[in-house]
Amino acid sequence: MSKINAIISGIGAYVPDYILTNNEIATMVDTSDEWIMTRIGIKERRILKGEGLGTSDMGVKAVEQLLKKTNTKADEIDLLICTTVTPDMQFPATANIICDKAGIKNAFSFDLNAGCSGFLFGMSVASKFITSGQYKKVVLVGADKMSSIVDYTDRSVSPIFGDGAGAVLFEPTTEDIGFIDEMLHVDGAGRTHLHQKAGGSVKPASHESIDAKEHFIYQEGQPVFKAAVKGMADISVDMMKKHNLTNDSINWLVPHQANLRIISATAKRMNLQPEKVMINIEKFGNTTDATLPLLLWEWEKQLKKGDNLIFSTFGAGFTWGAIYYKWAYDGDKI
Ligand code: UT7
Repeated sequence: MSKINAIISGIGAYVPDYILTNNEIATMVDTSDEWIMTRIGIKERRILKGEGLGTSDMGVKAVEQLLKKTNTKADEIDLLICTTVTPDMQFPATANIICDKAGIKNAFSFDLNAGCSGFLFGMSVASKFITSGQYKKVVLVGADKMSSIVDYTDRSVSPIFGDGAGAVLFEPTTEDIGFIDEMLHVDGAGRTHLHQKAGGSVKPASHESIDAKEHFIYQEGQPVFKAAVKGMADISVDMMKKHNLTNDSINWLVPHQANLRIISATAKRMNLQPEKVMINIEKFGNTTDATLPLLLWEWEKQLKKGDNLIFSTFGAGFTWGAIYYKWAYDGDKI
């Protein structure tokens, strides 16, 4: 029997309509378009507005587009995984809520939280369910309503994040293509630099925790920045070395979008030509779990069967890693 490989066979995504510009942020905190562009590389980000709307509402839109584009019926899906740090609720899983809203009745589903590496870790998990031979159609959703945990009076955090969702379909193939290799890491000691202090079992939400703004993102920018540059650059170069990849044989770097300076440092260490680096941080900011699928969604038409992609991420946890993936279809024929 020939070996089963896992491929991504389609992409859907959704970003909310509301555009939060740097100039609007500058009306909330002491900052400027120039500072944000120079230090982070973000011009604007999308924000989900509307009472009662959460991560699943963006996730379901991405999934519906994915099903339509790939001509897949909701009841054909075997498994749906949602990677998020902003679930609709602590429980049940946002993945279950997305399935319910999308009419996906025959699947099991669960959430996965690996900070900004969530979608990367999710790719690893989704591909294993395919290569096991047991499941044929696995949907991986990366979605976050970061605006629900951003303190818009904190200038060190508010310019960074945006809301959005992306979804991909994993399917089996016997062709020598698709998911090839992964290098995934965590260091839980890094949690001190980036976390949400209250709302979990250690410190359940209370009047005091809300007054102290402990339900918002807590980030020490500099240590995270240093660890992110080292983590993403080292792991990407390690993956290149392991597979004898050169800057010429790599077609695309698909990097997490946290800071343009982190992306540039990674590409530089890989000695990669700038036109091979997918970047959309300027218009979407850091959408956490949605950055990688939003990139694939935007670049889909340029992707060709057989292209060598390196995915690379760093996030809260700390979590970081790289995936080597050979693209499975000509995007311009979609
Ligand atoms: O995706 C999850 C992983 N997260 C990341 O990868 C984020 C990594 N960290 C970063 O991207 C950067 O550290 C930040 C964008 C968060 C901050 O940039 P930075 O260049 O590291 O700035 P900094 O924290 O060292 O602050 C430098 C100065 C400070 O002023 P003083 O103390 O030098 O007077 C800050 O108060 O910039 C000030 N500052 C700002 N000024 C204008 C901080 N935020 C702002 C702001 N506008 N929005």
